[in-house]
Amino acid sequence: MMDKIYLDYAATAPMLPEVLEEMMPYFVSSYGNPSGIHATGREARKAIETARRRTARAIGAENTEICFTSGGSESDNLAIQGAAFAFKDKGNHLITSAVEHPAVIQSCRWLEKQGFRVTYLPVDQFGMVSPETLEEAVCPETILVSIMTANNEIGTLEPVAEIGRICREKGILFHTDAVQAVGAIELRVQDLNADLLSISAHKFHGPKGVGALYIRQGTRLESVIHGGKQERGLRAGTENVPGIVGLGRAIEIAEENRLNCIQSIREKRDILIREVLEKIPGSQLNGHPEQRLPNHCHFSFAGIESEALLLRLDLAGIAASGGSACTSGSLEKSHVLEAIGLEEDMIRGSIRMTLGQETTREEILQAAQSLRTIVEDLRGLTGWH
Ligand SMILES: Cc1ncc(COP(=O)(O)O)c(C=O)c1O
Repeated sequence: MMDKIYLDYAATAPMLPEVLEEMMPYFVSSYGNPSGIHATGREARKAIETARRRTARAIGAENTEICFTSGGSESDNLAIQGAAFAFKDKGNHLITSAVEHPAVIQSCRWLEKQGFRVTYLPVDQFGMVSPETLEEAVCPETILVSIMTANNEIGTLEPVAEIGRICREKGILFHTDAVQAVGAIELRVQDLNADLLSISAHKFHGPKGVGALYIRQGTRLESVIHGGKQERGLRAGTENVPGIVGLGRAIEIAEENRLNCIQSIREKRDILIREVLEKIPGSQLNGHPEQRLPNHCHFSFAGIESEALLLRLDLAGIAASGGSACTSGSLEKSHVLEAIGLEEDMIRGSIRMTLGQETTREEILQAAQSLRTIVEDLRGLTGWH
């Protein structure tokens, strides 16, 4: 059987065996409800608190500043809606960007229906928000700024430290969706001046359906899921104990591995970029050429339909994706690619290839070769030249 080449780590990453191993007891033998006062409950509580400590340490936070959620989407919803309603007596204006993940954009759209006002900042051709433009958009009613740390579609790193500094100076809350950034770049909440920061475990070899929101000490938030008093009354519902344990172990390993793995991943990514740009005419790299995630490539090919390209790659055993995982499968145009002003033809012919620590140099060369053959083939069929 043909070996598969997985180049879709931005969509999700395989769970590490050592993460699964640590989770296993909490499905069957240590099954207690962490709210229970008995020994079985206390065992589960202890495991959650260990995971909280590990998560906090990975981003330079205090244990009490971590709230576990069901993933990146819930963390974004809680941060944005929670802050908007907690601070609505102070103002009704929010600022975000045109290239955020749908979990942020749709939360903002929903808030607009509830009477809030939202500014969606434009970005440059690399997908970058300008801190100056942000500063100009601030008004006395602004209560929250939400700008992602790294873009999931095109990999661009936003100037979040600078944006955080501006927000802190002006006394405005700053949320950053760091879902794509954990394990890829150094994240210290103090350096970012972040008040709220979203995390999702499955992007760094943890389980799916679990995440966390960093909430800076003293930051008021309204709850989004109402019910019991779990997570200091902020997030009701019996905790996903195995998932939380998995998140804690995965983020610890991601941080331990980051410095060792990232350079080699970056080198392989650069080989892929070079091979594609040099050997496939009519190709381009989207997103910022330098200020980008070390494992991230996003290409456009003139005269190509990305669906056809992705299907042919899949037949060749290569997993890539079109834009973000959330918009693939729908034929809607990517709001990110529109925001960076990409021409129609280049939007239609765009794919994302993202690497992981398991990706080998041979796989990269094989993927580049297949890409070249398939692009030539597809162009031959349509007579593009
Ligand atoms: C930047 C970003 N934010 C949020 C999410 C949503 O995370 P989750 O899948 O854990 O809900 C994703 C996942 O694709 C993402 O890339």
